[in-house]
Amino acid sequence: MLKRISALVVAGLTAMSVTACGSGSGGSGGGDSITMGFSQVGAESGWRTANTKSVQDSAKNAGITLKFSDAQQKQENQIKAIRSYIQQKVDVIAFSPVVESGWDTVLKEAKDAKIPVILTDRAVDSKDTTLYKTFLGSDFVEEGKKAGQWLVNEYKDAKDPVKIVELQGTTGSAPANDRKAGFQEVIGADAKFQIIASQTGDFTRAKGKEVMEAFLKSNPDIDVLYAHNDDMGLGAIEAIEGAGKVPGKDIKIITVDAVKDGMQALADGKINFIVECSPLLGPQLMDLAKKVVKGEQVQERVVTEETTFTQDQAKQVLSTRQY
Ligand code: AHR
Repeated sequence: MLKRISALVVAGLTAMSVTACGSGSGGSGGGDSITMGFSQVGAESGWRTANTKSVQDSAKNAGITLKFSDAQQKQENQIKAIRSYIQQKVDVIAFSPVVESGWDTVLKEAKDAKIPVILTDRAVDSKDTTLYKTFLGSDFVEEGKKAGQWLVNEYKDAKDPVKIVELQGTTGSAPANDRKAGFQEVIGADAKFQIIASQTGDFTRAKGKEVMEAFLKSNPDIDVLYAHNDDMGLGAIEAIEGAGKVPGKDIKIITVDAVKDGMQALADGKINFIVECSPLLGPQLMDLAKKVVKGEQVQERVVTEETTFTQDQAKQVLSTRQY
C-alpha cells in the first residue's frame, strides 16, 4: 500500500515538474521560437547540479523555451516526461538517459510524432540510431582508461599485488558501464592489479560512504579506491577517516568529474587524481537543438573536450573552477 502511495506521489511530482517548469507558449508552429522538453536524470551529484544549471542558463541565453523535468534517477519517470513532451508537441526533446537500455519504444513514438531527439551526457544502446539525431557528451571509456593509466604509472615499480576497490555509478548507466570497461582494459594488462571488491554507490555521496564502510570492514588491506564520480569518492573519504585511515595516503583515491568539492579534496591531498568530465553541455546542446529543428545536418556524435588533474594542478586551478 505504502509502495503504491509513494509511486503515485512520485508520478504526481514528475507530472508537476514537467508542467510547472515550462514557460512560454511552446510547441511547433510558434514562428521562430523553439520549445525544448528536457528530461534530466535527477540531482544525484554536484556534476548533475552543474549540468542542470548549464542547460537552464543556456536555454535562456539562446531564447529557447525550456520545459524541464527531474526524473529522480528513475527510467519510468523519464519515459513519462518524454511522452508528455510528445503530447505537448514540443519542437525538440533532449534527455540524459539514466540507464542505457529500454528506450526504443518511446524514441519510436517521438520519431513518429516527427519530434527530433538529442541525447545529452549519456548514451542509449538502441540498434536503430535513426531514433535520435545526435549524442552530445563525454567519452566515458576514455575516462576509465585515463584513470587506469594514472594507476599503472603510479605503481609501475610495485612488485606486490595492488588491491583495488571500485565504487561504480548507477547500475546499467553508460558512465558506470564504460568507466568500468575502460579502467579494466588498462589495468588488466598487469595481473598485479586486483579489483577485490566492486559495487554500485549510485553516484551519490551517501551511498559512496555506506558502500566504502562495508568494503573497509571486509577488506582490511585496501590500497586504492577507484570511484566513478567525485561524490562517491567524497562519501568514501568520510568512511576512510571514520575507520582511522588517511585518505590519499593509506588508501590512494582516483575519481571522475572534477567538480569543486572534488578538486578541493584533491588540492587537500585526500584524493590523488581526478579525470575531468565536463557538465557544461548547455551551450552546445542549444546550438544543436537550433540546427535539428531547422532540419540541418548535425554530427551524429559530439564528444566533450576534457582533461585530468593531479594534486598540484588542482591547487593551481581551484580558485577559477566554475562548478
Ligand atoms: O553521466 C555523468 C555522470 O552522472 C557524472 O559523472 C556523475 O557525477 C553523474 O551523476
